[in-house]
Amino acid sequence: MTPDKSPQTIKTTFNLIAEKYDFINNIMSFGTQNYIKHQCIKNLGIRPHDRIIDLCCGTGDLTEIILKIEPKAQITGIDFSENMLNIAKKKNITRKIQYFEGDITNLPYEDNSFDFATISFGLRNIANPEKAIEEIYRILKPKGTFMHLDFGEKNFVSKFFDIIAPNLAGVFTDNKSAYNYLIESKKIFPSPDDLIKDFSKKGFVLKKREDYIFHVISSQIMTKN
Ligand SMILES: C[S@@+](CC[C@H](N)C(=O)[O-])C[C@H]1O[C@@H](n2cnc3c(N)ncnc32)[C@H](O)[C@@H]1O
Repeated sequence: MTPDKSPQTIKTTFNLIAEKYDFINNIMSFGTQNYIKHQCIKNLGIRPHDRIIDLCCGTGDLTEIILKIEPKAQITGIDFSENMLNIAKKKNITRKIQYFEGDITNLPYEDNSFDFATISFGLRNIANPEKAIEEIYRILKPKGTFMHLDFGEKNFVSKFFDIIAPNLAGVFTDNKSAYNYLIESKKIFPSPDDLIKDFSKKGFVLKKREDYIFHVISSQIMTKN
């Protein structure tokens, strides 16, 4: 089954699951997601006053980690789901993170604006990922860093996850179909090696790849040429 990735369907799906998103994410990742995201951000080497944008920021867990690791960074989060953003805004008690509702395939920023761009578990949901990658490249400063994090190798452990996750989600939510979508989109998502090729075609150079939990989760850290 090919998942429907039209922007309206994706937006509706995330608006529907926003309230329980963090809770279910924690359960489905057996509590590892926060640790992995923390490691990824720590390894980026963000400095005070760097400008960093988190794309498809959802409920703001990555932006909050960035703030914790480098409180003087200038952090922006962008997402097109109003309900996901509302949760991010509630967590933003210091008001240091700027949140905007928008589509990452059409970013309202000038060329060469950011030192870092991050996207976690986002690109997989986008009907036109090529356009998103081009936009990320455009808004990054020369030598700026792009960190992409998502599911990695489709190995035995990953297949086990595909069976467990929607059933677990079904126990805790009345929206099992949204989590079936997650698994379907995961199955057709390119491998980390193919993603690196796709990013390279748009001008990025691989700096480092990091793999977590038996390579089920992978991050690719790329530099703008
Ligand atoms: C699986 S969630 C990931 C949220 C967060 N980054 C995380 O790691 O938990 C995917 C997010 O991407 C957003 N999204 C999908 N397509 C988008 C687009 N074209 N522009 C902006 N946001 C988008 C959805 O609204 C959703 O909040």
